[in-house]
Amino acid sequence: MARTKPSISVLGLGRVGLCFAVCCANRGFHVVGVDVDEEKLDMIGAGKAPFYEPGLQAMLEKAVEKKDLELTASAGEAVARSEVSFITVGTPGRPDGSVDLSQIESACRDVGKALAEKGAWHLVVVRSTVPPGTTGGLIKDVLEISSGLKCGRGFGLCMNPEFLSEGNAIRGILEPDRIVIGEYDKRSGDALQAFYEQFHGNGLSHGLILRTSLINAELIKYASNAFLAMKVSFANMIAHLCQLLPGADVVSIMDGVGLDKRIGRAFLNAGLGWGGSCFPKDLAALLKFAEGLGLQLPLVKATVEVNERQPLLAIELAKKVLGTLEGKRVALLGLAFKPGTDDIRGAVSLKLIEALLAEGADIVAYDPMAMENVKALLGSTISYASSAREALREADCCIIVTEWEEFRTLRPEDFKELMRKPVVIDGRRIFRPKDFEQVVHFLAIGRGPRKLT
Ligand code: UGA
Repeated sequence: MARTKPSISVLGLGRVGLCFAVCCANRGFHVVGVDVDEEKLDMIGAGKAPFYEPGLQAMLEKAVEKKDLELTASAGEAVARSEVSFITVGTPGRPDGSVDLSQIESACRDVGKALAEKGAWHLVVVRSTVPPGTTGGLIKDVLEISSGLKCGRGFGLCMNPEFLSEGNAIRGILEPDRIVIGEYDKRSGDALQAFYEQFHGNGLSHGLILRTSLINAELIKYASNAFLAMKVSFANMIAHLCQLLPGADVVSIMDGVGLDKRIGRAFLNAGLGWGGSCFPKDLAALLKFAEGLGLQLPLVKATVEVNERQPLLAIELAKKVLGTLEGKRVALLGLAFKPGTDDIRGAVSLKLIEALLAEGADIVAYDPMAMENVKALLGSTISYASSAREALREADCCIIVTEWEEFRTLRPEDFKELMRKPVVIDGRRIFRPKDFEQVVHFLAIGRGPRKLT
């Protein structure tokens, strides 16, 4: 029977996989989504996104309704019903920095078994972040052994790193800056390029696609994340310096530095440090991987070190004004690792909470999206407010931890009226110091003491 829509499968419906799957459905593909978590499948099948990502919910509802996204727990079924399988399962970090590849190994074993049954060339595309050498090594081996087929002849293999950024995932997939195709052989690369040409249609500009080897594609992902994290840590290092210099301000400095086109302004926003499910895990993995080769990566190491210290700068600032934090009520505005998501993995807020609790502070927190996730993790160790204003009530100090848009609308008078002591620490530089300094005790990351002129 002739099929009208090309069919692909996506194995692993986490933040990357589900967003990618609904975007493919939106761009005219029939998508078979696979996950081992039946509860999650039921939820997605009912058109309900299991996490918050702007734009996802509406697209998911449409894809399910139009039957462009079908779901199954069976990888075999998915491979049989598609021409390309994208693997987007989690590759979590272990405490020592190494990467746990068990999920991807198991997914590839299932795909391999299905390939043995299928009897037609099928393209396997790894989108999960994996250490250099994994796709052409472990993954190829698992696929070959479980299918009994030879890579290149029986099936194709590509490594196609995902560069989407949470909170901006849908746009990142629909309008990417680049598409990196790491290919085992030319046929595999051509097949994946053909998929992207169909996905983007006329929107695929020249130079958007980079074709390279499997290991280079894996390294492009790690090097990109390490470089972005390094930019942030660089800004944070300069921020620390600024805090010792009367009149200095990191925001203005980074505006000046970023005007240089060779540097660029993006990812130079100083704050309380970077978090998330990617930077911390990927930098640790890169360090661990290099260590295995007997190599130190000093810039990556320093990037991590600066980041570990960064949240503590907010506590130092608070102590400068309040002395001890013992028994002081500290309001934390923002818990998600960045705005636009409910994700708290690797979030600075969690490090800050731990350090504040060790100081004996009494914490009240508010976040527009991530509250339930923090409650599930920390329970009643801290208190929760139902709005930013409620969090401020009777607080001795407020720290801006995540730069949600709604916090920008708070006026200095709100802090003055609601707080017991209006000590405001702008950890994400969302307020204009000029507006606040006259009304409250205002301190900000990367801003030196006021000049006595
Ligand atoms: C990051 C990369 O930006 C994506 O390109 C990549 O695909 C993704 O990891 C991944 O590996 O999957 P993400 O973790 O969603 O994306 O978030 P980012 O926007 O990169 O922010 C990471 C952290 O850096 C956040 O905590 C953010 O607050 C912080 N940050 C970012 C700053 O403190 N200052 C900045 O100027 C930029």
